[in-house]
Amino acid sequence: MEKVLQKTTKVDNKNRPKKVFIKTFGCQMNVNDSERIKGILKNLGYQFTSDWKEADLILLNTCTVREKPDRKVLAHLGEYKKVKEINPTAKIGVCGCLAQRMGEELDKRAGGIIDIMFSSYNIHHLPQLLEKANRGEKAIEILEEPPKDEWEMFEYPTIRENPYWAFITIMKGCDKDCTYCIVPQTRGRERSRPIRSIINEIKELVKEGVKEIHLLGQNVTAWGKDFEEPIPFSYLLYKIAEIDGVERIRFTTGYPSDLTDDVIKAMGEIPQIADALHLPFQSGSNRILKRMHRYYTKEEYLEKIYKLREVKPNIALSADVIVGFPGETEEDFLETLDVIEKAKFEQLFSFKYSPRPGTPAAEYPDQVPDDVKTERMHRLLELQKKIMNQLAKRYEGKIVYPLFERYSEGKLIGRSSENKWVEVKSDRKELLGKIVPVKVNKASVYVLYGEFISQI
Ligand code: SAH
Ligand code: F3S
Repeated sequence: MEKVLQKTTKVDNKNRPKKVFIKTFGCQMNVNDSERIKGILKNLGYQFTSDWKEADLILLNTCTVREKPDRKVLAHLGEYKKVKEINPTAKIGVCGCLAQRMGEELDKRAGGIIDIMFSSYNIHHLPQLLEKANRGEKAIEILEEPPKDEWEMFEYPTIRENPYWAFITIMKGCDKDCTYCIVPQTRGRERSRPIRSIINEIKELVKEGVKEIHLLGQNVTAWGKDFEEPIPFSYLLYKIAEIDGVERIRFTTGYPSDLTDDVIKAMGEIPQIADALHLPFQSGSNRILKRMHRYYTKEEYLEKIYKLREVKPNIALSADVIVGFPGETEEDFLETLDVIEKAKFEQLFSFKYSPRPGTPAAEYPDQVPDDVKTERMHRLLELQKKIMNQLAKRYEGKIVYPLFERYSEGKLIGRSSENKWVEVKSDRKELLGKIVPVKVNKASVYVLYGEFISQI
């Protein structure tokens, strides 16, 4: 069967550029890693395709933060392996956190179909790995620790979907060791990217027309702590704001206790810093926060939020929360609902606790049954929906400032400083890439519908 397919659909590999299909799972760090992988592959002459069936290389950038993404990756591998029936020389690659966690075991589970495997530490080794795979050898390089030359990967440009805003990874890894989290195992200890490298990348991006930059790190507010001579994160914010052409700055993910007074002050002083912040709280119960190894209390978390609102009264907050962490009682859960009531998040990412192999919480004896998690999750979502509906109304009649990034069917679409989608009926494509004041006529939970004010 294979032979027949080979004959009938054989592709002339010599005379056409190779095509790659990339599928990215998980967080924004993975999205940015994939953008860099695309930069490397473009350098090697690859073209991008959105149809895996015509690919010479299928690459999955994976996530393992909860069990669900693990299952998704395995299901996709099951489907994508059929590419080898269409094109026998096609290669399958897997990178990212699941590759890091499982290594060769993942290849075994997938039936030995993986040709290339690497982690987020060694993206820049992809050219050598591809060469090896194209010689017909398995190219698996899962490093235990990030190599010394890790930051060299930033010498490759990124290929981004949008020309007007860009992710910029400023640190990697996490030192926090939350007891539920696999990230420190898959992404390693905290390493901050040198300031010069960050500034240079931003300057290049601004030259290309980027207006908004989005700083990324697992624990972005801890940037600079691991340098021989530590530099505060707030210093980096001021330095970035000084770069000509940077019109908006965002950063993700902040950790509550690293959001120190100097960072809050900088957020108030730097006009380009967006009116939005993602600040996970995970639980409202101090007992559970302690068991999670989170280094703050509910009261301290709320205090940070009140301080932020003093310097940025319109700030739109978002957060992550975990429901059903081992030992969570009804009372603990009510504390979580209380934080939600008080903090008034515009967006909340809620997750049922998912035990991760090798993490301390997975071994805790008092796991919460799934039906209890589900029931609590329903109540949490109900409350959050009510809050979001109330909050949306605050935009009606107000002026917001979207950076227009897309035009579709007679509408300009962009994100406001508060990270809300804004839509304006207009054919004025010359406004793409510009931050423009818009009066909101109608606000839904996720989209603000508006019109230009008369001067525009
Ligand atoms: N600081 C990181 C957090 C990564 S994990 C960042 O870059 O965003 C993202 C979110 O997943 C966490 O904030 C947490 O709410 C959730 N999470 C992590 N491990 C989890 C687990 N084992 N079960 C359920 N949710 C989890
Ligand atoms: Fe995970 Fe906690 Fe770090 S959630 S990424 S160990 S701050």
